Amino acid sequence: MRQSSLVVVANRLPLDDNAARDGACEWRRSPGGLASALRSILEQTPATWVGWGGGIGPARQLPDVGPLRLRPVALTADELQGYYEGFANSTLWPLYHDAVEPPVFDRGWWETYRAVNRRFAEAAAESAEPGAAVWVQDYHLQLVPQLLRELRPDLLIGFFLHVPFPPPELFMQLPRRTELLRGMLGADLVGFQRPQAAHNVAQLAAKLLGTQGADDAILLDGRVVRTGAFPVSIDVPEMTALAAQPSVRSHAHQLRQDLGPHKRVVLSVDRLDYTKGIEHRLTAYSELLRDGRIKVRDVVMVQVAVPSRERVENYRGLRDRIEREVGRINGEYGRVGEPAIHYLNQPFDRADLAALYQTADVMVVTPLRDGMNLVAKEYVAARAEDTGALVLSEFAGAAAELEDAFQVNPHDVDGLKETLLRALDADPADLARRMHAMREHITEHDIHAWAGDYLTSLDHSGGLARVLP
Ligand code: UDP
Ligand code: G6P
Repeated sequence: MRQSSLVVVANRLPLDDNAARDGACEWRRSPGGLASALRSILEQTPATWVGWGGGIGPARQLPDVGPLRLRPVALTADELQGYYEGFANSTLWPLYHDAVEPPVFDRGWWETYRAVNRRFAEAAAESAEPGAAVWVQDYHLQLVPQLLRELRPDLLIGFFLHVPFPPPELFMQLPRRTELLRGMLGADLVGFQRPQAAHNVAQLAAKLLGTQGADDAILLDGRVVRTGAFPVSIDVPEMTALAAQPSVRSHAHQLRQDLGPHKRVVLSVDRLDYTKGIEHRLTAYSELLRDGRIKVRDVVMVQVAVPSRERVENYRGLRDRIEREVGRINGEYGRVGEPAIHYLNQPFDRADLAALYQTADVMVVTPLRDGMNLVAKEYVAARAEDTGALVLSEFAGAAAELEDAFQVNPHDVDGLKETLLRALDADPADLARRMHAMREHITEHDIHAWAGDYLTSLDHSGGLARVLP
């Protein structure tokens, strides 16, 4: 078994196993921000990535991605149900996102969650050379830091939570709250998107574990667990270069022709997830059409809603509701050959997304709660000419950084309508100033800075940060 000095452990590998019906296989990029962010830093790095390949049953061996080795972890159908669809995505995901949908507490899921976390910890322990650093990612694997420490006390262990960490009163609802907290605090450094999360964890640790400490360090079992905020980001030069490619530009030009060359284009790109505020946005858009404040001949909306977690109950209901509402809006306000909304329930590759970002006059990102939201940052990176407007929910982690976006409370539908109109009618000089300031910020705080900051903080000697390209 080849071992690495840096091991990343995430529920998903960067490639997704899509077994076709005839048994043939094709690997696709995994969905979501975590896979996007980590892939851009790790594909040039001699490290090992431990994760699930997206299928059921025995894991297939995977090709290396450049110097990056992929180490698959297999899941059975029952494990997928109890660990991924159940505890991770029906209990933790809604609870950590302000309980915008009620979390489900099913006593049967916990043992599966713990058993699968143990399997990930064992795979990480086997993949790490003596004294290596292991960087565990996200809410699926919250017990791994402690389990791994028991197996391999020689390792340097990091944990990063890509989603929000909830306020204590919500976390306290979890029947297994003490074990979950202790699991995460098995790490040497626990990173979050926002400083508030570290504050919440310090409060909970004092209450549930009787620890002492501050927002940046907790004393537990004679060990110091450091905590802090490390807002995740994107590969800005890569997205800017992609958006400037002649093929992407001509695709964007074609999209604009197809959408109506004189129309203003409003774009949203989300996983089809109830945290993303898609329904609130559709309500606002539909009311603007109803009130005659925007007209189908002048403005068109494109909603990309990538299929996600389709076997989880809450997601199925959401898809039905959204598709009914888009149908209703198009039925009421569309004209022949001129829908009010183009709805695309399919994943797009990065070049197609870059073309869409180039086409959009207004990008609307309205999550009810989001750890960060990388789509918002990608839009800014794709607008090198300082054109376009970003409408951004206050409840996305990105709002703390993108202060020059048109910020909005998505629960306030009237406010959302007014903000959409302001963005559509904004003065180009104002838009240029805002976009320029936002691009300066993300250029300075891009994905390489994120990984460098985190790993330097994990390993004060600085040796780890030097592993990165
Ligand atoms: N994405 C993609 N294809 C799509 C839609 C989205 O590759 O059709 C990517 C997008 O570029 C971004 C990520 O998925 O990097 C979504 O990350 P975000 O933080 O916005 O939300 P998440 O899905 O992680 O909740
Ligand atoms: C969010 C989570 C990631 C997850 C992604 C896609 O970004 O923080 O951990 O990978 O959504 O969700 P999925 O369930 O398809 O992995």
